[in-house]
Amino acid sequence: MTIKEEVAKRKTFAIISHPDAGKTTLTEKLLLYGNLIRTAGTVKGKKSGKFATSDWMEIEKQRGISVTSSVMNFPYKDFQVNILDTPGHEDFSEDTYRTLTAVDSVVMIIDSVKGIEAQTIKLFKVCRMRGIPIFTFINKLDREGKEPLELLEEIEQVLEIETYPMNWPAGMGKRFLGIFDRHKEQFIKFNGNEEETHIPYTSLNTSAYENLVSKSEFKAAKDELELLDEAGDQFSLDAVLNGEQTPVFFGSALAPFGVHDFFDTFINFAPSPKPRKTTEGIVAPESEEFSGFIFKIQANMNPAHRDRIAFVRVCSGKFERGMSVKLSRTKKIFKLSQSQQIVASSRDTIDEAYAGDIIGIYDPNVYQIGDTLLEGKADFEFDELPKFPPEIFKKVMAKNVMKSKQFKKGIDQLVQEGAIQLYKDKRTESYILGAVGELQFEVFKYRMENEYNVEVLFETIGERIPRWLKTEQVKESLFDDRNILVRDRDDNYLVLFRNEFALNWFKDNHKHIELIDLFEVN
Ligand code: G4P
Repeated sequence: MTIKEEVAKRKTFAIISHPDAGKTTLTEKLLLYGNLIRTAGTVKGKKSGKFATSDWMEIEKQRGISVTSSVMNFPYKDFQVNILDTPGHEDFSEDTYRTLTAVDSVVMIIDSVKGIEAQTIKLFKVCRMRGIPIFTFINKLDREGKEPLELLEEIEQVLEIETYPMNWPAGMGKRFLGIFDRHKEQFIKFNGNEEETHIPYTSLNTSAYENLVSKSEFKAAKDELELLDEAGDQFSLDAVLNGEQTPVFFGSALAPFGVHDFFDTFINFAPSPKPRKTTEGIVAPESEEFSGFIFKIQANMNPAHRDRIAFVRVCSGKFERGMSVKLSRTKKIFKLSQSQQIVASSRDTIDEAYAGDIIGIYDPNVYQIGDTLLEGKADFEFDELPKFPPEIFKKVMAKNVMKSKQFKKGIDQLVQEGAIQLYKDKRTESYILGAVGELQFEVFKYRMENEYNVEVLFETIGERIPRWLKTEQVKESLFDDRNILVRDRDDNYLVLFRNEFALNWFKDNHKHIELIDLFEVN
């Protein structure tokens, strides 16, 4: 098979959602369809937002794979599927955001009972910023939730994206009858279990389905559907691929209902790897020479194994184990002999991969997040990975002042690695760390102690709203402990506002000062 054919088969995506919307349950179904696991109910099963590790381990035992790892990879029909995990719950971090730089499309799960929730909005914003196509799965139709029309309106208003319902539900909860599949012009009947009956529209008027079509939920849904046909937006694959329209599917990940049809349609429409921007122009995925970038570095938390693994998104060409690549930032050549597929497969060594795939390579402490790897004579870098605005900030210091040298070295390295963001208080010169999630602080503390032998102390300054400032507009007298003025690693100024109120007050009183939300900068 040519590189072009291999690339066309790749479908690399992430599933985004707020905790408990059903990401694990849906992922599990997809793994079942891909024959990566054999029984349902093995992945799902966690209470109070905590992974039931045993359930994950069960799958690992079954197939000798590690589902807890970051990429799940399997062939499905004519495609090669890569699902990237976006860590949620208490391990929500910059990694979660950065993962989105390595995918070609995204599935957004919305809980029909709760509607759009905070974490979904944050992740959605990043997708929007990067023009990533978004497919929506509205989950838990087997429960009494919000009205479908209301949910569509919520998506359009809160997320500011056009919607196109690919199917339309009749009833919900105990009154749930099934969905109209607009694409295939059939009604998919919910039988209360895994079985689905597919009835072509043309057969619905036969006596066999009289009982179904006479139900008020069926009639109401049919009326709504007619309304959508007449007054709703048209489906436009171009708009979907440009991230301007989201196809919406209703279903239940748990039942499961509508999941297989959703996946089949999604996998057909989801884009294969596209050309990517670099400092030297566009690179096509099917070009002969290998190129890729590092979007995540995972340190081994086991002190006996100090090695790290760098996750590479292959952007062009073919990766072969043992090949030599150039690290664009330093121009040094490395031989990639210890490559791992962090796919599910218990870290099997992989021999080849194509644009769209994700590989894990051994990191002898030389790589940084955002690094570009190149084969041959090429000399460019992929677009810099965006920085994501942290939400939690803490002052950090060494417990023992005598250790300030190691302290600085550790901070410098961990910050460079992208593990956490560092700021300096403009007035006190103290160090402030910023992160998207609590876990990043824990990992930082652990690694400072174990890798640099420095115990650190945190002094919390709580959640803050960061806004960047143009240097020429900085007036130090305007800031204090409430709204702290700091500098980031690149010497840009930013203000850590105490809360929304403080931010709005500042905006109202200093209209000439431009406050930049990082999401808008990139
Ligand atoms: P997450 O990964 O997005 O956090 O969500 P997860 O799949 O773990 O699902 C969260 C809860 O919602 C689980 O219940 C799961 O069973 C339930 N759920 C997922 N999809 C559906 C659906 O289509 N319908 C209904 N009714 N429930 C659904 P739990 O009680 O937290 O866990 P468990 O003890 O039932 O496993």
